[in-house]
Amino acid sequence: MTADRSAASAGSIRINGVDCPVPSDPRVSLLDLLRETLHLHGTKKGCNQGACGACTVLVDGERIVSCLTLAVQYAGRGVTTIEGLADDHGLHRLQQAFIDHDGFQCGYCTPGQICSAIGMAAELKRGLPSHVTQDLGSEHMAFSHDEVRERMSGNLCRCGAHNGIIDAISETYAEAAE
Ligand code: FES
Ligand code: FES
Repeated sequence: MTADRSAASAGSIRINGVDCPVPSDPRVSLLDLLRETLHLHGTKKGCNQGACGACTVLVDGERIVSCLTLAVQYAGRGVTTIEGLADDHGLHRLQQAFIDHDGFQCGYCTPGQICSAIGMAAELKRGLPSHVTQDLGSEHMAFSHDEVRERMSGNLCRCGAHNGIIDAISETYAEAAE
């Protein structure tokens, strides 16, 4: 990930490394700021009520659903969307893995799936337990298909590409978690 996540000024949000003014209207969701104002259409609006995960982005490396948050909450923070993942060297390795494993069909859920998986991998690395974690005392979080399925359960795919999605995530992050 190349987006500069160092803090933006209090009056702006650093989005994919570029400082953007905080909206003057405090009612604007982060999702609408991204899509309607900045025309970053990679982040998708599905349910607009926190149920589908299509709008997932990373804030200072942590995954959030952007439809349920107000843009003003992120003044001074760094947001990374799907547009911020590839760099001069090419696609993020998880993006490539999605292609290699047919982890999408229509692609509508894909940006949210990828951002969510990146956040999830960081959570695993930090040792945060999930609902299916067996050994809560362990400092080393086991990487398993059950863990990935549980942790990615907030991201829905109406095309039913979940098997490819899990395979892509597993190929990308299983080794790093060992
Ligand atoms: S659009 Fe945000 S969770 Fe569905
Ligand atoms: S690829 Fe179509 S909704 Fe997931």
